[in-house]
Amino acid sequence: MALPSYIRCPTCRTALGSDDACPRCGVTYETVDSIPRLLDRSAPGLDAKLRELAAWPELAKEQGWYGTDDRIDDALPYLNRDLGWDDRAWGATQHGFDTMVRHYVKPGMRILEIGAAKSWASQRLIPLGCEYVAVDLVVDPVIGLGRGTYFERTVGPYLRVQADGERLPFAEGSFDLAFCVATLHHAIDLRAMVSELARVTRRGGIVAGLNEGTRAPYRSGENPDQEHEKELGINEHVHTMWTYLAAFARAGLRPVRLEYAEGASKLAERNIAGKLLRVGSLPATLWALNAYPYAGLSLYARRR
Ligand SMILES: C[S@@+](CC[C@H](N)C(=O)[O-])C[C@H]1O[C@@H](n2cnc3c(N)ncnc32)[C@H](O)[C@@H]1O
Ligand SMILES: [Zn+2]
Repeated sequence: MALPSYIRCPTCRTALGSDDACPRCGVTYETVDSIPRLLDRSAPGLDAKLRELAAWPELAKEQGWYGTDDRIDDALPYLNRDLGWDDRAWGATQHGFDTMVRHYVKPGMRILEIGAAKSWASQRLIPLGCEYVAVDLVVDPVIGLGRGTYFERTVGPYLRVQADGERLPFAEGSFDLAFCVATLHHAIDLRAMVSELARVTRRGGIVAGLNEGTRAPYRSGENPDQEHEKELGINEHVHTMWTYLAAFARAGLRPVRLEYAEGASKLAERNIAGKLLRVGSLPATLWALNAYPYAGLSLYARRR
């Protein structure tokens, strides 16, 4: 598959030549197993990121989710809805993704996902008439972009790119919508990742960060639950809601929707948040994200 015209050198953002080489840097970018490898080898912190390549499959093997199960992949991300699972993390992803599709996705859009892992969103977005581009560092055939060949059997070929979300190999304004699920908190430089999402989105387009863990401002950023991931080399951070909002604002993104990741209706059972919900979902959400030690958010914003 020839690379589309909006692909750029990740280092200097020059358009690549017909030989997939950057005329300015002189670097040739290879495509292996149908996945263009568009990493900026000179990027600071790349070593730490590349350590993650090995760490994710290792974690998956330890936790018993390294393996292909077509029935599970066919249902992604609706594992709770369609397979009867009762998993909080997938419940939040399901809610955030469904909200994005219902409110912001239209046929004909070109949509980017970073930190796409298997790129399961292809099977939801391409049938809606969208073009879908998946980016991740991990190309593993089971839990990374390599697994996209499975979804391609149903939805046809789509672009999967090995790239760093903090240094995207795309021209400015290439996408109508750019999103990620549980990925912003892995950024070594959160501002860089958010501003790259904003840069590659057209003016008036949508940038969404779905199901990102948050901490209350009074809690430490060291979440003991993430110690093991960090030991393996996975870059984990827990930001406050305010840190996410500030990164979005700085990147020229105007928030249009802020949600408690599992959905405001989940707050009905809670004492204070339940009462605030009667006033409106935003007061209840703000309370939850600032009072609960650890929670999660989904943030949808429009590029100015
Ligand atoms: C928690 S997983 C979420 C995977 C997927 N979004 C999902 O919800 O099923 C985070 C993903 O972000 C990817 N990731 C982490 N840092 C990244 C970076 N700098 N650029 C691109 N992807 C990154 C990881 O490789 C991993 O696949
Ligand atoms: Zn270059």
